[in-house]
This record gives sequence, C-alpha cells and structure tokens, in this order.
Amino acid sequence: MVIQAGTGRFVDSTQNPEIDKIKKVCSDLILGKDTKDELLANTILIPLKTDNNPLGFIYLEDAQYLTNADRNLIHVMVYQCASALNNLQLYFDLKSAHQEVSQMLEIAEQARRMAEAASRAKSIFLAKMSHELRTPLNAIIGYSDLVQEDAVDLGYKDIVPDLEKIQTAGKHLLGIISNILDLSKIEADKLEMHPSEFTINDLVQEVVTIIQPIVESKHNHLDVKYQSELNSMCHDRHKLKLILLNLLSNAAKFTHHGTIIFIISDNIENSENVSSDYLYFQIIDTGIGIASERLKAIFDPFTQEDDSTTRKFEGAGLGLSISQRFCQLMKGNISVSSTLGKGSTFTVEMPIKIIEKSLP
Ligand SMILES: Nc1ncnc2c1ncn2[C@@H]1O[C@H](COP(=O)(O)OP(=O)(O)OP(=O)(O)O)[C@@H](O)[C@H]1O
Ligand SMILES: [Mg+2]
Repeated sequence: MVIQAGTGRFVDSTQNPEIDKIKKVCSDLILGKDTKDELLANTILIPLKTDNNPLGFIYLEDAQYLTNADRNLIHVMVYQCASALNNLQLYFDLKSAHQEVSQMLEIAEQARRMAEAASRAKSIFLAKMSHELRTPLNAIIGYSDLVQEDAVDLGYKDIVPDLEKIQTAGKHLLGIISNILDLSKIEADKLEMHPSEFTINDLVQEVVTIIQPIVESKHNHLDVKYQSELNSMCHDRHKLKLILLNLLSNAAKFTHHGTIIFIISDNIENSENVSSDYLYFQIIDTGIGIASERLKAIFDPFTQEDDSTTRKFEGAGLGLSISQRFCQLMKGNISVSSTLGKGSTFTVEMPIKIIEKSLP
C-alpha cells in the first residue's frame, strides 16, 4: 500500500509513526478483515471504490471541524476520484487489449507474408520444372515420329503401333505439363496477354479441325452453329483457343454415342444479360452430366468426379480451372449448367474487343 499524497503532518509520510497503523487499517478493510487497530479520534477513512472493490482510501484528521456541507462535498469528490480511477483502469485495460490485437495482427501479417512467399516459390518451382520437362519431352515426341517414319520406310511395320503409343503417351504428358505450367504462371501472376485482331471463323475452323478426331473416336457427332455475320475480334487468340479446346475435349470425353453442339453467337438464347459487346461460345453435350452439388468444385484445380471416373476418363483435372482463370483474366466469364445423366452446357462470354488498358 502506497501513500499517494498528503498534507499537514503527512507531507513527509516517512517521518510519521502513525502512518503504519493507518496502512494496516486500510489493508484489513481491503481484505475484509476485522481490524484491531484503532485510528485516532475524529478521523474519517473514506474508501475509493470501483465495482464495489476498495482501491484506495482518503484519510482525514480533525474531522470535528467539518460542516455537513464540507462532508457532502468530500463525498462528491471521493466519488469523482473513484470514477477517475475506474476510467484509468479501463484505459489501461484498453491499451493492453490494443497492444495484444496489434501483436496478433502483426503475427497474422507475418504468416500471410510467409504463405505468400511459399506459394510464389511453389509456382516458380512448378514453372521452372514444367519448362525443364517440356524440352526433353518434345525431343522424345519428335524423335519417336522420325523413328516411326523410318520404321515404315524400312519395312518394320510391326513396331509402328508401339512407336505410336510412345507418341500418344508423350503428347498426353506434354498436355498435362503445359497445363501445370499455365496454372503456375497464373498463380505467380506471370501470365501475359497477347491481344491481336483475328477472324472468328478462322479460329472456329481451327478448333473444330483439332477436336473432330477426338469427337469421332467416342462415336459422337459435332454440330457447329455459327452466325455468318460475325467478323473479327481483338483478343488473346491463343488463350481463347485453349479455352474452347478444353471445353470441347471435355464434351467429347464425357459423351459416348451422343451429340455435341458448338454455338458461336453474339446473342444467346435464354439469357437475360446479353450485351452486343460480347461474343458467346456455347458447348452443349448429351453426355454423363454433372451432379448439381459438384458444379462449383469442377473449376478447382486437380478436381475430378471420383476415383472411378479418374480411372475411366484420363486427365489431371486442370482444364476447367485454367479455362476459368483465363476467362477471368480476359474480362470474360465461364458458366455451366448440367443434369446428371442427361448432359452439360458450358457457356463462355468474352468481350469482342479487349482494351489493352483493362488488362492486368
Ligand atoms: N462436359 C462434361 N460432362 C461431364 N463432366 C464434366 C464435363 N466437363 C467437366 N466435367 C467434370 O469436371 C471435372 C474437371 O474437368 P477438367 O477439364 O478440369 O479436368 P479433366 O478433363 O478431368 O482433366 P484435364 O482437363 O486436366 O485433362 C472432370 O473430371 C469431370 O468430372
Ligand atoms: Mg478437361
């Protein structure tokens, strides 16, 4: 217990033998003990209470000279002191809570920075590894092609099917690695846009030529519905081509003995928000469809139906997540509607003109 301030004979509390007795009485009162020490006659000891707990005392001597008005005034002042003490305590509590929050925010910020650095390092590693893997893989594919030609020329026809398998497997692996490379570039924010003006018809023809053999291999029929008045668009042609190929190859992969309809239009049926500044690509299939509770998850990387589907349908589960991120970067959008067992419709809407300023 500390004496904060005193007047009269308590100006120097060290010189006063009475002081220890007063302190003892105050301590007993705080601890709720019955005090055996007696204070001098005509003294008043008023507790300063916060939340009913005495924090301190005001000790007055020669109280017989105080009038009632003086006593009332003293009580008001004591009340004010207690309330000031209370506020001070609240201030200290608040200050320490603020310090704790600041510390926690600093720790969270550090964790965020570390996670970001780790994620960037992972993306850079993936980008480098994918690049290193692609070079020798391209050599394997190229040389197996040459050996295949030589085998035909030299009459070793029986090894041609095996060489074809090497090529198919190599191309498949190259596709997966390219997807991982794209994904890691997107995550590392290293993806660049290369807009150019091109004819929509040419792009559609190119995509259809590539996809037709895959469609036919699953005994499907491809129906292309194209509006002839569509001319050109200014966009990243390569990325748009990859998006359409991903969606069409999915439609072919998950449909057997069915129909795939590929619609290219500046106007889309059953849509409320049609804009003339956009072009719409719609891929409708009559395949296995997707359960409604899975529709959102299919755009997450490495997501496929389930293990049995993964075994049945090859792929890494990257095509849609890359297509969606490409779409976002290109200021477009991709959406899906599907009925399990009946088929799916994927719609890509893309601005006809990408303005360089709007690119990331
Ligand atoms: N047209 C579709 N019909 C039915 N299911 C589909 C269709 N398109 C996508 N899916 C479901 O969404 C999942 C994710 O598709 P995504 O294209 O990302 O991966 P993938 O085709 O399995 O592999 P990858 O594209 O990497 O070769 C698929 O595995 C499949 O379960
Ligand atoms: Mg796919």
